[in-house]
Amino acid sequence: MLKHLRSKIQSTGPISVSEYMKEVLTNPVTGYYVRKNMLGADGDFITSPEISQVFGELLGVWIISEWMGAGRPKRLQLVELGPGKGSLASDILRVFSQLQSVVGGASVSVHLVEVSPVLSRLQAETLTGNRSEEASSEDDPVYRRGETEGGVSVSWYRRLEDVPAAFSIFVAHEFFDALPVHKFQRTEKGWREVLVDIDPADPDRLRFVMAPTPTLASSTLVQAEERRDHVEVCAEGGVIVQQLARRIQEEGGAALIADYGHDGTKTDTFRGFKGHRLHDVLLAPGSADLTADVDFSFLRRMAGGGVACLGPVSQRSFLRNMGIDARMQVLLRNCSDPSVRKQLISSYDMLTNPAKMGERFQFFSLLHRARLAAPKTPEGLKLEKKSPAPLPVAGFTELSLS
Ligand SMILES: C[S@@+](CC[C@H](N)C(=O)[O-])C[C@H]1O[C@@H](n2cnc3c(N)ncnc32)[C@H](O)[C@@H]1O
Repeated sequence: MLKHLRSKIQSTGPISVSEYMKEVLTNPVTGYYVRKNMLGADGDFITSPEISQVFGELLGVWIISEWMGAGRPKRLQLVELGPGKGSLASDILRVFSQLQSVVGGASVSVHLVEVSPVLSRLQAETLTGNRSEEASSEDDPVYRRGETEGGVSVSWYRRLEDVPAAFSIFVAHEFFDALPVHKFQRTEKGWREVLVDIDPADPDRLRFVMAPTPTLASSTLVQAEERRDHVEVCAEGGVIVQQLARRIQEEGGAALIADYGHDGTKTDTFRGFKGHRLHDVLLAPGSADLTADVDFSFLRRMAGGGVACLGPVSQRSFLRNMGIDARMQVLLRNCSDPSVRKQLISSYDMLTNPAKMGERFQFFSLLHRARLAAPKTPEGLKLEKKSPAPLPVAGFTELSLS
């Protein structure tokens, strides 16, 4: 990877942090995500769906609740962006099968957007056992197809654009933080983009430099009223949110985005993880995960006014509003094995403790605007009272419609 980046920089000059991050993470041959499974105790980091199945189960309940809130459409596409090992989708589908009496009327299909061949094989194993096969042609936008044991069809895509247009609930857990960010620094001469260059003192090392003049990105991506001195902008994430908003507006549905992030307040959050420890982002590129906090204020801006945005709310509030406490009590009551009980309690603590994942992780949702509108009073019927309030959206305490 270092050799590849060096020759790229030698031929074109210093590259943007966004280009660096994209190459390092998703280069089709040597990219970090493309080559290895990095999730879990032996990997570089662990995520909530891998910590406890209760996490995915509660998201499954949220999905069913939003499908019901939309009037139980006949077709329900579950679309997951960056599904990792497939554990979240698998836990969601288990809830669907347990609540057959509720969801039974809908034709459910699963659509996974994944760039990593290694992870897509793991997802296929988790979700379909050996009931999946790769497409015979490279040009097929669906590069793998399969079926779960319960007969739900599962399709894999490299890009969201290729997922069929239909009522969909989109889920993205720790996906947006893996998308490349541009970094900008306020200087006396105005905003300048931070670039990655070869260190002249040691050609085996990379270093950050400041672009001497404005770049296209620094001229177009920084808000005129920006108050921070350093900002990170995930243009690719913005485009994906625009696509989600357009689909929800046109076809109905909702999106649930969960990630670590902030609401337009943080500055320098670009960092690396290797073996569960922080890692220098420019050292041994390709050997560590690179990530940046998600700026939810930017996602909200990019979603535009065609959809409603809820959140961000902390993971702790979201999971508690979804009933994690009651669910844990049932599991503990039915469990007599002390080691399993200990594990249940520690996973609950990890997910909800404000000092662990409880406050750092945030939940944000895009909804069809009709979802938050008050139910219509039937024509010709005069009501004395004010019209009823809209049905609350599970997980989000305050309906901060924006
Ligand atoms: C940090 S992992 C999270 C995995 C999983 N959602 C979880 O929480 O365990 C990021 C996931 O997004 C995928 N990914 C990263 N960049 C992507 C892109 N540009 N398009 C599609 N998938 C991508 C990775 O391969 C991986 O599955």
